[in-house]
Amino acid sequence: MNFASNLEKSMEHLHKQGAFLTCKVNNEVNTMTISWGSIGFVWQKPVFTVLVRKSRHTHELIEKCMEFTVSVPFDDKMKKALAVCGSKSGREIDKIKECNLELKDGKDVSVPVIKGCGVHYECKVIFKQEMCPNLLDEVIDKDCYGSKDYHTMYYGEIVNCYLDEE
Ligand SMILES: Cc1cc2nc3c(=O)[nH]c(=O)nc-3n(C[C@H](O)[C@H](O)[C@H](O)COP(=O)(O)O)c2cc1C
Repeated sequence: MNFASNLEKSMEHLHKQGAFLTCKVNNEVNTMTISWGSIGFVWQKPVFTVLVRKSRHTHELIEKCMEFTVSVPFDDKMKKALAVCGSKSGREIDKIKECNLELKDGKDVSVPVIKGCGVHYECKVIFKQEMCPNLLDEVIDKDCYGSKDYHTMYYGEIVNCYLDEE
């Protein structure tokens, strides 16, 4: 697994333009844009932590499948798709079809990855945590959670990580 060498580039692109967080339940595949998250080591495992607000359709799906993939674009080609997937819900439209996204089967999870991105992470949820507002910095609470739509944090063990062409 080419984990360490992809880390820095992934974090930079995730933060700057976003990435696709994809889930699959039965035959439904849905993806949403994320730009918050972290990659690190926990419990002696490589872990990708994503933050998903309860209002997202993705929240419903990830709760059911407990697996996800993160596909990080390394160039501008996915800019439009990232904008659509970050503003429309899978409850209303089929974003994969709408954005002409091409899927590729996951190697070690049942969730596909989005072809054409720079790097893919395949993850299995090993821990999840609801945010406790009373433990949160007051300024962040005010700035990020005015609507009280708190995130659930999903810690996904990275079971595979590879470049798109691999
Ligand atoms: C650049 C960008 C980054 C985003 N990051 C997150 C995120 O980290 N967590 C989250 O819950 N929503 C995030 N969103 C919002 C979701 O992508 C958006 O609400 C999406 O429509 C949810 O889709 P769904 O309902 O199909 O899950 C982001 C949106 C954009 C444009």
